[in-house]
Amino acid sequence: MTLKLDDRFVTPFVSEDELRAMLPEVKAAADKVKNRDGKGADFLGWQDLPVNYDKEEFARIKIAAEKIKKSCDVFIVIGIGGSYLGSRAVIEFLKSPRYNLLKKDTPDIYFSGCNISGSDLDELMEICEGKDVCINVISKSGTTTEPAVAFRCFRELLEKKYKNKATEHIFVTTDKSRGTLKEFSTKAGFETFVVPDAVGGRYSVLTAVGLLPIAVAGIDIDALMGGAQLAMKELNTEPDAEFTNPAYKYAALRNILLRRGKCIETLVDYEPYAVMFNEWWKQLYGESEGKDGRGLFPTSVNFSTDLHSLGQYIQQGQRTLFETVLAIDKADSDAKIPNDPANIDGLNFLSGKQMAEVNETAMKGTLLAHIDGGVPNILLRLADRSEKSLGYMIYFFEYACAISGYILGVNPFDQPGVEAYKKNMFALLGKPGYEEMTEALRARLN
Ligand code: PA5
Repeated sequence: MTLKLDDRFVTPFVSEDELRAMLPEVKAAADKVKNRDGKGADFLGWQDLPVNYDKEEFARIKIAAEKIKKSCDVFIVIGIGGSYLGSRAVIEFLKSPRYNLLKKDTPDIYFSGCNISGSDLDELMEICEGKDVCINVISKSGTTTEPAVAFRCFRELLEKKYKNKATEHIFVTTDKSRGTLKEFSTKAGFETFVVPDAVGGRYSVLTAVGLLPIAVAGIDIDALMGGAQLAMKELNTEPDAEFTNPAYKYAALRNILLRRGKCIETLVDYEPYAVMFNEWWKQLYGESEGKDGRGLFPTSVNFSTDLHSLGQYIQQGQRTLFETVLAIDKADSDAKIPNDPANIDGLNFLSGKQMAEVNETAMKGTLLAHIDGGVPNILLRLADRSEKSLGYMIYFFEYACAISGYILGVNPFDQPGVEAYKKNMFALLGKPGYEEMTEALRARLN
């Protein structure tokens, strides 16, 4: 399998019997996904997306990506939450967190509309000066404030720069028929791509939402989808008592641990290129499960960096957390530690060793230390750092999230809690229609 679950570091905490006892719950959850009759079933479009996607649009994404590559130096992706995390995670995982600094024949890519920071916007505007710019505004609802504000600013920039040719530099990904953005795009004649009805934001990385920016970065989107197809085939199985399906095992283990009071899950990686993948994962699990007073709190760490900041807490702090460790089996670097004849730093015991081997050893040592400290560790081993493997892992986490959410008893596909801050912000900013709330909130703040 492209992704394996190694349970050696969690079995000291969870017995085989406990795991087996979860089988009926896993079966019930898997049936809900299969029969599409659980909570939020209207948003199960991601489940067969790797085979059941719009092939015509997929081809158009590739054409648009080529056009963008040829016509711009800077590509601004405007979106928030599920409308940017997936593409950013994939680009950083497969290319680099320093993608923009690499020697390449693809445009620099920046993300905007994922905050309300004036200084971030100023900086991006300055970066765009004297450069050819294209933008891709992404919003399923078409009404989210952060990307809408950024779109306004970048549209102004493009209209000043390209006059009536600005339209050619604007690409829109939104709902097929609803929302302000859709209406506006149709009128303005922007090239548009669709977020399918049945796919929620955090499950949308393998739709145009993620695929257009990913293709602009020069990543093979066919291979990415191929990996997801394989995962779809291998993971949509009948649950068995041996828990041979890693998605079912992962979903069951995290629910067992939660019931034991391990209410924080930390996703651990040992590669800086995986940091944004962790962010994508946090949204997927946090938004899918954190509701009705339930759910694990998803956090992440990047080791060995964070072993020197959060490692102390993990080793000896409150025993309320467990770790899910992501290991990449095949290293993609053969960097070696040089020999120093003078051995000034006493590190010659490492001379000639590959960095990958030392990193793997740091992981093994940490796994043992953390389980000794009372922290269960679920180890996930991904075959390599490739499009295919990443596509597989994306689908793995999506599928496991749905199963886990159903075991938990929540609707894994809605996010009602996200509205609370928006309403308050609108009311405080004086949006028409919110007058009553405005007064009440201002009174509370004063
Ligand atoms: O997963 C989700 O649905 C959310 O995180 C959305 O992606 C996020 O709120 C952005 O919404 P929209 O794409 O409608 O602008």
